[in-house]
Amino acid sequence: MAGSTRRDESAKRAAAMRPLDFALPEGARLPYGQIAEACFAERIGPHGLTQEEYEDTLAATAPALERLKAAYADGSLPLLRLPEARADLAAIERHAERLRAGCDDLVLLGTGGSSLGGQALAALAGECLGPLAGRPRLSFLDTIDPARFEGLLGAVELRRTGFLAISKSGATAETVAQLLLSFAAVRAAVGESEARHRFTVITEPGDNPMRQHAERFGIPVLDHDPGIGGRFSVLSLVGLLPARVAGVDIAAVREGASSVIRALNAAAQPAALPPAVGAAIAIALEWRRRITGNVLMPYVDCLALFGMWFRQLWAESLGKGGKGSTPVRALGTVDQHSQLQLYLDGPADKMFTLVVAAEEGKGRPVPADLAADPRLGYLAGRTLGDLLAAEQRATYDSLVAAGRPVRLLALERVDERALGALLMHYMLEVIIAADLLGVDPFDQPAVEDGKRRARAYLSERGRQ
Ligand code: PA5
Repeated sequence: MAGSTRRDESAKRAAAMRPLDFALPEGARLPYGQIAEACFAERIGPHGLTQEEYEDTLAATAPALERLKAAYADGSLPLLRLPEARADLAAIERHAERLRAGCDDLVLLGTGGSSLGGQALAALAGECLGPLAGRPRLSFLDTIDPARFEGLLGAVELRRTGFLAISKSGATAETVAQLLLSFAAVRAAVGESEARHRFTVITEPGDNPMRQHAERFGIPVLDHDPGIGGRFSVLSLVGLLPARVAGVDIAAVREGASSVIRALNAAAQPAALPPAVGAAIAIALEWRRRITGNVLMPYVDCLALFGMWFRQLWAESLGKGGKGSTPVRALGTVDQHSQLQLYLDGPADKMFTLVVAAEEGKGRPVPADLAADPRLGYLAGRTLGDLLAAEQRATYDSLVAAGRPVRLLALERVDERALGALLMHYMLEVIIAADLLGVDPFDQPAVEDGKRRARAYLSERGRQ
């Protein structure tokens, strides 16, 4: 079984509170630990897996692991080689400096995998490490509500605003429309020859509408690696360039991701690789216990957008041919006051992953004289970190007591290395889960229908 099933009860409780030690393969040290014992019947009762059910599914991940190792070795899956790459970082730094120069604001245009990875990474700078002085304010525009678009363009000083438009295909209607409209607005404000210096486009090589627009006006274009799909592109310049503008240490992000790739290559069997264990548990719960919801609930504010990135990765990669489970993004502690009632007492059709960090003692203590009310005695001298630690532990224990399958991803510390590792963990977990389900994680055929219809409706309106 994964992790430490034989620990006594008090060790298990401590596990919920702090990063755990795991027996990882030599040289495969990870900045997080995965504690999955509360996904098993032995701990939570009938909604958990038996050892046999788990081991059957875990054994079935072995071929996927071998394929991943082979793909790493022959370079046929470029996303596996990104973590170790360093040669492109200097160029990303130069582009980041150019985007920062003379800008108070940077507007990121793009959607889905062309936006969520950058959002997840840049959030580290905003909520956890910063905000860092001298960096432009980043606004990720991944919707096309005209009210928000106009509001944003009206709120920024266009002369001091940069625009980074990201689209692998260069043809996504939302992003193309955002690019053309914002270019028109900036051109009207500063003139055409100056406007082109305010824009940068990331798109794949070859002819496409966004590249054509960029070439027509002399806008710099950076190549999106055609071998890396949108939702798997967070470790490429698609995610790293916005992150670097925000001030994130992108080499550390890649180093964190590398630790997971090293674990992959060192794993002699699936049990040694946390993403394989995670995939086996999720899919075995789906198959054997009809667990069709997959809730990711970080207790770290700056991982809230990582939850959004996970949601897309899981849904778009696995929801195919009648298969897949529904990802849900939650955030502790706020969703204790929103969704937890359902989680604990509604249908037992979800598994939970809590992302926790050692929070105790962080922040300032509540002065004892202000907590003199006997009803507030528990707060006197306690920090917000103490309260957060107690609440994440309480949620874990409540879910366990309610017999709901729950795993912990415990971080040594919240930083670039940890987030890089979590991103790569989930990319591997999803690829392995897809293999178990027998679906292709890299395509999204069903969404094409909606795109085609939207274009047709607009074209028809134009002819009326
Ligand atoms: O993950 C994916 O492939 C999608 O979510 C795409 O990222 C999204 O549809 C945007 O596509 P593009 O980058 O081509 O604009």
